[in-house]
Amino acid sequence: MAQKISLTRYLVEKQGSAQAVAPQLQLLLEVVADSCKSISSAVNKGALGGVLGTAGSENVQGEVQKKLDIISNDMLIEANEWGGTLAGMASEEMDEILPIPAQYRQGDYLLMFDPLDGSSNIDVNVSIGTIFSVLKKSGTAAVAESDFLQAGAQQVAAGYCVYGPQTTLVLTVGQGVVMFTLDRELGTFVLTQDQVQIPVDTKEFAINMSNMRHWDAPVKRYVDECLAGKEGPRGKDFNMRWIASMVADVHRIMMRGGVFMYPWDKREPEKPGKLRLMYEANPMSWLVEQAGGGATDGRQRILDIAPTKLHQRVAVVLGSKNEVDRVTQYHTQP
Ligand code: AHG
Ligand code: MN
Ligand code: MN
Repeated sequence: MAQKISLTRYLVEKQGSAQAVAPQLQLLLEVVADSCKSISSAVNKGALGGVLGTAGSENVQGEVQKKLDIISNDMLIEANEWGGTLAGMASEEMDEILPIPAQYRQGDYLLMFDPLDGSSNIDVNVSIGTIFSVLKKSGTAAVAESDFLQAGAQQVAAGYCVYGPQTTLVLTVGQGVVMFTLDRELGTFVLTQDQVQIPVDTKEFAINMSNMRHWDAPVKRYVDECLAGKEGPRGKDFNMRWIASMVADVHRIMMRGGVFMYPWDKREPEKPGKLRLMYEANPMSWLVEQAGGGATDGRQRILDIAPTKLHQRVAVVLGSKNEVDRVTQYHTQP
């Protein structure tokens, strides 16, 4: 039988090669993976673990927090604060950055996360996930929000874990995308796919169609052309999927291609989009690019956006390269 390659072994075997992952980063990624195991276990318990329902509080974005949003956030903090690899953390569920408490060893890395993505799906037993992004802090001054405000192109690691029929961890350290499936009997993430590639063409799109009347003309044009099918300008029929968990929608695209859009719309015109740049769009964009796909806000590459705020929002178009290029072209050369 072929040997199982654990996440630890995968990272260790890179040591000594040109693709070596710094030991501190390796440790950090293993601890993040451990937190994902804990979250997966809480998710699996569902009603039996008393983890469903709302927590009765709101986050900085004014969204009602679910119990699992808070539980997952706490699990990530507790696992990562003592490891000595981090200078600070930031999360969708925390208004401000969290510097590593003084009693623990300080490191150079910065960890950002969406602890529980797809919160509206928790109580209905549909796939949800965790998204994370790792940056490096420069200088020796005490960590501040400004240290986190780096463009996505500066990420040193990014990933997500999807809690679905299987728990799958998807990771990049800038050398392509790898997938690990949680083996519950062994308690380890086992390598199940190396060098993931997103097909450049697709017949599948993902967007929340109920917002159609609020969209801008380029997005409406693109979706209208998909809907026109074989008889339309695209000359082929398209299928549509919308899970309402970005992690699950992106995972489908990683596995078989497709395009995912959460565009700017007229509901809240002052906001550039719904999704958050630092811990949703940036890590997902890097993963998608590392798998041969594209990611823009409709006009420019997401990874090139210089952030100004921790919780800033952004429009997102990502997935199969040729479709992302087409949507971007509809915005830039209408
Ligand atoms: P979160 O649960 O972390 O707030 O993120 C939810 C996001 C994203 O996962 C998903 O694609 C989108 O919100 C769904 O939004 P709609 O409910 O507007 O379709
Ligand atoms: Mn999210
Ligand atoms: Mn979330």
